[in-house]
Amino acid sequence: MGKKAIIVLAAVCMALTFTAGIICAGSTVKDVIPLKTPEYAEHTKGIIEFSHKKHAAEYGASCGDCHHDDKGKPLDLKEGDSVQRCVECHKETGKKPKGEKLKKKEKIMKYHKEALHANCIGCHKDFNKKSGFKKNDPKAAPTTCKDCHPKKEK
Ligand code: HEC
Ligand code: HEC
Ligand code: HEC
Ligand code: HEC
Repeated sequence: MGKKAIIVLAAVCMALTFTAGIICAGSTVKDVIPLKTPEYAEHTKGIIEFSHKKHAAEYGASCGDCHHDDKGKPLDLKEGDSVQRCVECHKETGKKPKGEKLKKKEKIMKYHKEALHANCIGCHKDFNKKSGFKKNDPKAAPTTCKDCHPKKEK
């Protein structure tokens, strides 16, 4: 899925470059961001090639659906604005110690993985529900581990 998206984007870029002379490279945010936060000692799951541009341009998400300030308030961003990385606030990339009792909100605040899962899966579930998609619908936004994390190769 990730690879396909890149190939499609590359093809679109090439077509534009040839027909209109538009240069696609060099925009501030990469169209596809591999979500591989380096603070993790190890990634146990496959890395997601996150189609940042498609989410903002085609899937109807606004910047503030994902980027917020230090109070959690959605940010009103425009193209070219810089953002803080999620891990700067949702800092913990280690494993949750056994027996640690946290409320859901506290877990999301503390653990990077929980924050990302809540954000991504939360919206995908809402979207699928609104669209009437069942879990296995090929058009559904991914909500299961294997649909989101590609199979690990190395
Ligand atoms: C909607 C997409 C999505 C789904 C569904 C999802 N994840 Fe993730 N997961 C992410 C993202 C994004 C990260 C953050 C990766 C990063 O920034 O390094 C992440 C991080 C992780 C991490 C920490 C990094 C690592 O590789 O060890 C683990 C463990 C993990 N996910 C396990 C799971 C499991 C288990 C499931 C199913 C119960 C699941 N994920 C479902 C998107 C998803
Ligand atoms: C669906 C969620 C989502 C939407 C919508 C979204 N972003 Fe992002 N954006 C992310 C994630 C996740 C990252 C990676 C953050 C990290 O590494 O911690 C990111 C990264 C970025 C970066 C840093 C890119 C880099 O290569 O370092 C910028 C700048 C940015 N986003 C701006 C925007 C702007 C402006 C909008 C609206 C036009 C937007 N984003 C919409 C989720 C989103
Ligand atoms: C500047 C610090 C900061 C950054 C950067 C940040 N967050 Fe947060 N986030 C917060 C705070 C503070 C809250 C808690 C708000 C509250 O308690 O209502 C929060 C809450 C959340 C929640 C829970 C929302 C809810 O309504 O329950 C999710 C999910 C989340 N963040 C995901 C992300 C993702 C994904 C990124 C990166 C794209 C990110 N955060 C970047 C500070 C940050
Ligand atoms: C505000 C809503 C929203 C958020 C937040 C969101 N997504 Fe999505 N995402 C969508 C929608 C809608 C689709 C399905 C679009 C379609 O199929 O028409 C989608 C599709 C996808 C797909 C499959 C299609 C593709 O572009 O590769 C992946 C993978 C994905 N999202 C990953 C993520 C990850 C990882 C995050 C968190 C960093 C995330 N999404 C956050 C709305 C969202």
